[in-house]
Amino acid sequence: MIKRTAVLHEKYMLSGGLADISSGRLVDGTPVVVRSLQRQHRWKSRVRKRFVSGIKARASLPSHPNVIPSLSYAVGLNPYEILPEIEGCTLLDWRNRNGDLLSKYAPTMLIQIAEALDHVHRNGYLHLDMKPENILVSSVGDHLRCHLTDFDLVLDSSKIWHDKKLRFGTFSYMAPEHLQDGTISLRSDVFSYGVVAYLLCCGQLPFPGNTPSASRESKLSGNFKPEPIGALCKWLPPAVAEFIMRCLSCDPELRPGFIGIAIRDLKKVY
Ligand SMILES: Nc1ncnc2c1ncn2[C@@H]1O[C@H](COP(=O)(O)OP(=O)(O)OP(=O)(O)O)[C@@H](O)[C@H]1O
Ligand SMILES: [Mg+2]
Repeated sequence: MIKRTAVLHEKYMLSGGLADISSGRLVDGTPVVVRSLQRQHRWKSRVRKRFVSGIKARASLPSHPNVIPSLSYAVGLNPYEILPEIEGCTLLDWRNRNGDLLSKYAPTMLIQIAEALDHVHRNGYLHLDMKPENILVSSVGDHLRCHLTDFDLVLDSSKIWHDKKLRFGTFSYMAPEHLQDGTISLRSDVFSYGVVAYLLCCGQLPFPGNTPSASRESKLSGNFKPEPIGALCKWLPPAVAEFIMRCLSCDPELRPGFIGIAIRDLKKVY
């Protein structure tokens, strides 16, 4: 286990919702990030428990090219994890800067993000915070690589949860049944994957309504219909457009049951 004191030249970068992010280097020069629970949350037992669960979940995952791994962690008074630093930007920033490159890169990105989520599911967790800010994008030459991160909201994937207290997450990406009564399953992550895919491909969220409250109402009504992605993104193969729309079904039973199906189908088309 690498201790935090082994991180040289640690420098504060930014604060997210729960974590302070700082960067530094290991003795061998590897650039790393230290992700530590913010001071104001350390004494809130539920928040702290959630953060520690996320740290342990990430550390328990076998390595995967599209998931940011844990290099080390501590769960004492000041819980933190040490991660490799990804040189790049968030998927949201990438989308905002590279709209013209979408038809070239979106297929690979959609597959990589699905593979990352499938890996998390197969290893026993629901991610529950799929959003473009939690996916980092790096590039080597002409090749892009997506990296899933932020495991703060993970839950056991082997069961369907029903608990109103579990209505946490980021509203725009949460499945309707999760928002309504705290029903959570693999299909909740499949819905969020659909929102991420829709946003990546067409640069807008899939919900009708110009204001957050209109969009909230349409989602909670249980019968919202996003504008067909195939009409907005003519370059998308119809089979992929149809798949993304199925992920966004209000009724969880109409969504693909697990994200592994996406990888198989996407690879058939691309
Ligand atoms: N390994 C990393 N390499 C480079 N940048 C990183 C890394 N981990 C996090 N970041 C940066 O820090 C931001 C916040 O990270 P993260 O989502 O892990 O923290 P958080 O506290 O859970 O944030 P939020 O609650 O806002 O999602 C990322 O969007 C990214 O810009
Ligand atoms: Mg985050």
